[in-house]
Amino acid sequence: MGESGLPARKLAPSILAADFGKLGEQLKAAEMAGADMIHIDVMDGDYVPSISFGMPVIQSIRKETRLPFDVHLMVTEPGRYIKEFAGCGADSITVHVEACRHIDRVLHQIRETGLRSGVALNPGTSLSSLDYILDQVDMVLIMTVNPGFGGQAYIDSSTDKIARLRARLTELGLQTDIQVDGGIKKDNVHTVLQAGANIIVSGTEVFRGSIAENIKDFREIFHKI
Ligand code: DX5
Ligand code: ZN
Repeated sequence: MGESGLPARKLAPSILAADFGKLGEQLKAAEMAGADMIHIDVMDGDYVPSISFGMPVIQSIRKETRLPFDVHLMVTEPGRYIKEFAGCGADSITVHVEACRHIDRVLHQIRETGLRSGVALNPGTSLSSLDYILDQVDMVLIMTVNPGFGGQAYIDSSTDKIARLRARLTELGLQTDIQVDGGIKKDNVHTVLQAGANIIVSGTEVFRGSIAENIKDFREIFHKI
């Protein structure tokens, strides 16, 4: 629990922006520099336009770091793959509410594997889609870009959405993590922290330039805000 009474602030670098020719080395650098978890963007080329990577890559990097693997499935009907992702090293699995015909069932599947469960909402998806599943999730991912690509610009309407979600969770007495993902930089992370987000995904802002310096900068901002 952070001093603000909110869940602790955590940094989750997204490896989509990493150099896949030296992924092991960059994971170690992120861990040494103080990253709290590794955000792993799985894209299927159907739910989102891009194709990224899948279970074999996750399996092969599992031995490179002890950090939790926060797997973000941008995959159509992800319920088909929960067991496989649990088996290759995921510590939490986040699925898109828009990508599941039966979201309640998929969240149960994740919990049945013993992993932390997350649900992601795209920028155009209302918070009301959480009404009957908030008790099934450990984390809500508020997408702050339209999913599918790194390096996009933060969508400003996300700020109010984050604040309204945090207010709703507080009203319900829930300590659910709010993760934000997409376009988060050193010069705008204070906005999402102040709105009530506590798990920060960042890809290009971490992996471009010095990983150690970038993570240090983010952590300093976490402590200042
Ligand atoms: C986008 C992914 C994000 C993305 C973040 O679909 O879910 O995790 O990789 O990258 P940046 O921080 O560069 O926007
Ligand atoms: Zn992501």
